[in-house]
Amino acid sequence: MAYKFKKIPNHLAIIMDGNGRWATKRGLPRNYGHKEGVNAVERTINYCLKYGIKYCTFFAFSTENWKRSKEEIDGIFSLLRSYITKNDDLFLKKEVKINYIGELTPFPDDLKSILVNYVKKTKDFDKLTITFALNYGGRDDLVRAVNKIIEKGYKNITEQQLLQELDTKDLPEPDFVIRTSGEQRLSNFMLYQMAYSELYFSKVYWPSFNEKHFTKALKVYEKRKRRYGGLS
Ligand code: FPP
Repeated sequence: MAYKFKKIPNHLAIIMDGNGRWATKRGLPRNYGHKEGVNAVERTINYCLKYGIKYCTFFAFSTENWKRSKEEIDGIFSLLRSYITKNDDLFLKKEVKINYIGELTPFPDDLKSILVNYVKKTKDFDKLTITFALNYGGRDDLVRAVNKIIEKGYKNITEQQLLQELDTKDLPEPDFVIRTSGEQRLSNFMLYQMAYSELYFSKVYWPSFNEKHFTKALKVYEKRKRRYGGLS
């Protein structure tokens, strides 16, 4: 029986950092780190199902990651491609809804259609929603939202209207953000949406992140007192 947490995040967001360092430390090319990173994604999806988390969003490719070598970028695309194709049946069997945020236009056409197809196929599942942030940046999300608002001709808007134009319009705000590898920053993830998220930094490199680290993080979340600017 899985440990029953008194309180778990409804929406968990993960900044998977340290793939490159994990590989370099072992004398391996960086893409080996990403490959092992995919296994950690797979494990984490199972932990979400086991502990009852409803939404989990992975920062898989940021608007800044285009600065990396073509070889590394192509490697990440290949991993995504094979990961989704390989897990086709599994996601359907586990009733996992697949979603993405970010601007897919610059992605290879086949990868785009694999993703879009999959989003369509799994859209009615509601047990667990997995979102991949792809070519995603919090600033870019806001700028695209503002441009949509301008196109609609609004003179002024409410917070609710702005939220409706963000890529995350169908997701609740993240309750808990885990970043691995010891770095302590948000790196342009869901900036607006994380206004009241609880933050957690783990020293472990993402490919090594396992159930022990996951439950350790959830135990920290369990003890956090969320006040949203009010008094407890
Ligand atoms: C951060 O580590 C990791 C990334 C920028 C890419 C993460 C991508 C994957 C795990 C593959 C995507 C596939 C799926 C299925 C989501 P880093 O390279 O910045 O590590 P470093 O800071 O040690 O160099």
